[in-house]
Amino acid sequence: MLFRTACLLLLAAALLGGAAPTSAPAQPAPQSLVINADQGEITISRHIYGHFAEHLGRGIYDGLWIKDESGHYRIREDIVEALRRIQIPNLRWPGGCFADYYHWRDGIGPVEDRPAIVNTLWGGVTEDNSIGTHEFMELVEALDTEAIVVGNVGSGTVEEMARWWEYINFPGVSPMADLRRENGREEPWNVRFWGVGNESWGCGGNMTPEYYADLYKRFATFLHAYGDTRPFRIAAGAAGDDYRWTEVLMREAGHMMEGIDLHHYTITGTWARKGSATDFTEAEWFELMQKALWVDELLERHSAIMDRYDPEKRVALIVGEWGTWHEQEPGSTPGFLYQQNTLRDALVAAIHLNIFNNRADRVRMANIAQTVNVLQAMILTRGDQMILTPTYHVFDFYTVHHDATLLPISLDAGTYTYEGESIPAVTASASRNDQGTIHLTLSNLDPNQPRTIDTEIRGAAPSRVSGRILTADSITAHNTFETPDAVAPAPFEGARLQGNRLTITLPPRSLVVLALE
Ligand code: AHR
Repeated sequence: MLFRTACLLLLAAALLGGAAPTSAPAQPAPQSLVINADQGEITISRHIYGHFAEHLGRGIYDGLWIKDESGHYRIREDIVEALRRIQIPNLRWPGGCFADYYHWRDGIGPVEDRPAIVNTLWGGVTEDNSIGTHEFMELVEALDTEAIVVGNVGSGTVEEMARWWEYINFPGVSPMADLRRENGREEPWNVRFWGVGNESWGCGGNMTPEYYADLYKRFATFLHAYGDTRPFRIAAGAAGDDYRWTEVLMREAGHMMEGIDLHHYTITGTWARKGSATDFTEAEWFELMQKALWVDELLERHSAIMDRYDPEKRVALIVGEWGTWHEQEPGSTPGFLYQQNTLRDALVAAIHLNIFNNRADRVRMANIAQTVNVLQAMILTRGDQMILTPTYHVFDFYTVHHDATLLPISLDAGTYTYEGESIPAVTASASRNDQGTIHLTLSNLDPNQPRTIDTEIRGAAPSRVSGRILTADSITAHNTFETPDAVAPAPFEGARLQGNRLTITLPPRSLVVLALE
């Protein structure tokens, strides 16, 4: 509406001999934003900014770990350092679909004695189990993060899962705790986040929700609190908009879970033939943004079901796998899901994270898929080189929201219209940290037009604004090993503060983080 009014005014000015430009497209009218800085009751859980590392492609082997000269795997310190900078709050492992194929005893004890298996799901490669529980927990400690371990329901037994839980968490004398000690670890690791199967509607066993709900209760019964570690039990949640799955799980087993794990990927094209990560048109840019924005409806509808069974919001809605899924890079190993990552992916991440923040009352954990070399990765490696993707920088910007208080906002987002279809042009979320600093993250999804946002800060009078921006000259811009900083953060100069009014000009295809002090 505002956009139409602006166009009419410009047309009238032109007809009256005014100075309206004829060649440059008209700029959209300013958007408005209100930040209710004196309100806010909900904490944005840092676990919304979680990550995921599966035994898939070059995620683990030749990813987080690299072989040294002696042929042994070592954790990559450069990757650890980069992930520590974005303060990753958790790391989900060993899958994914792989979790329901994984037998944890294959991955303990002397490496040379561990059996080799076939990773049937992902490329049919040999998995020699060099990286198992101890190695993964060593990484978790190096990253100063928390583990989310996903147990095997699909092809495992209740006993196997209960023993793994005991191996990892029992502090006293017991068969599994003693075995852990024999393998070199005295103290338990105190892992509380525990997935009971993965995608049990699909690769995790092709179950109906009724059948899985029963199995879930059976497996969850044997996860006992040990020492100070109480299990945070995570049920396999729905695929996308399978609302019936959530309904049945919440009705039958909601009382025995702390979280339910929805999975949803953002793609262009079809599952059989997805779009390219780097070679796309504005039509595909628009399609991907539109699909990413749909996540808000998805979360609203799953949350509404959960509210009926759990009005206190005790059970967290977890988005345990999310992100873009493109055709894998031409020439990369089939089944390895290695994809490049452009500014478009960064904006998809920003859309998701703003939506998760704004729904922080129910969404209290999420994991982008996946950390290194797989799908929408933070980091890509080639030999001993590594580059940061545009998505990494988004996670860097959003660290300001970790465990901060969500501030309610009201946004007139304007519209970005492409060939007769419209989506909101801007997404945003705001929070206040313990020091009283207000942080605002904004993204302009329109690849062609800047957006000016007249902002009112209600209930606070900051005196200083500073910020950073991520943008690039083209919609397909991405980082390569030759040009690792083609998409990199820069200081943002487009915000003007006057009293409690803030004018922000977002360039086309950009995302911004602002600090108001
Ligand atoms: O992240 C890749 C795969 O996508 C995971 O293994 C599975 O859970 C999902 O279908």
